[in-house]
Amino acid sequence: MKKSLEGRVAIVTGGGGGIGGEVSKWLAKEGAAVVVNDVGSDLSGGGFSSTPADGIVSEIIGSGGDAVANYDSVAQPDGAKRIVNAAMSMFGRLDIVCHAAGIVRDRMVFNMLEEEWDDVINVHLYGALNIVAEAVPIMKSQSYGRIILFSSVSALGNLGQCNYSAAKGGQIGIVQGLADELKVDNITINAVFPGADTRMTEGMSSTARAYIEQWGVSAESSDAQGIRSSVRNAPKVAYLCTEAAANITGQVIGVFGPPMTVYSQRVLMRKLYKSNAWQFDDLDFAIGSSLNRNIPESRLGGKYEQR
Ligand SMILES: NC(=O)c1ccc[n+]([C@@H]2O[C@H](COP(=O)([O-])OP(=O)(O)OC[C@H]3O[C@@H](n4cnc5c(N)ncnc54)[C@H](O)[C@@H]3O)[C@@H](O)[C@H]2O)c1
Repeated sequence: MKKSLEGRVAIVTGGGGGIGGEVSKWLAKEGAAVVVNDVGSDLSGGGFSSTPADGIVSEIIGSGGDAVANYDSVAQPDGAKRIVNAAMSMFGRLDIVCHAAGIVRDRMVFNMLEEEWDDVINVHLYGALNIVAEAVPIMKSQSYGRIILFSSVSALGNLGQCNYSAAKGGQIGIVQGLADELKVDNITINAVFPGADTRMTEGMSSTARAYIEQWGVSAESSDAQGIRSSVRNAPKVAYLCTEAAANITGQVIGVFGPPMTVYSQRVLMRKLYKSNAWQFDDLDFAIGSSLNRNIPESRLGGKYEQR
């Protein structure tokens, strides 16, 4: 039986890490040749090691797949160029980019150093820009591409992570900004909200526990470990990289644990309309009483319209 990604070439940044590693292996299992990119840094972005990327490449080759390691940093434009060049020189094309590289440098904002902000923004957000900017011209020339940015539910806010939340929210901005631009060339771009027990979540067990218990599974139960494993994300991400997912673009898709979910876009919820200029008293009355809920028109005294 033909595999769904036979003949495709993929790059996975952070492809030697917890979730990125499983995604690399799943893409290879479906037939893609994979550039496993990973600097092998520590969790806060320091250090270098070839071991994570090499380990995943060995596993893929050992299972009969095709893969090559790359150790450049996606946080730098030159690094992204070399990652894309590795795909082109080894495999001659580029169909799939999964940007899973990540670090965290958590800190309350009043203690956050400039470098802690910059390092996180550089890997997640500039990393996304760098790799997308290098990949898109090639994908356009092939009239085919699948791009997945590994965002996070922390894009919606998380204590002590304003750098990470800003970077992950910014990735969603890139997705929404580019979806229409790329559609004409049969290139899709989506963000995923992944989740798993990896070194990144070691200090966040209460968050993991809250997730699991939402699904009616006790965090102590024997299934909990399996539900939190990185591999639970991989088939869902890989599916978004197939031809079958051609009509899914500009979305935020949850891939953590048992469900596959889709998040709403921001939409205008309610409008209070006044044709002549608002005065502060109007705002005080109208906003306080009705911006966030519908109230009977009679209570607005004919001064405003709810639209
Ligand atoms: N684990 C979770 O629950 C969770 C939740 C939401 C989002 N995410 C996101 O999913 C992605 C994968 O997370 P994970 O838990 O597997 O983390 P991880 O720490 O296990 O893996 C991340 C990998 O990225 C690599 N990396 C870091 N900086 C790099 C750079 N500049 N260039 C190339 N590689 C680099 C690291 O060496 C590491 O192997 C990250 O983007 C993370 O923010 C994870």
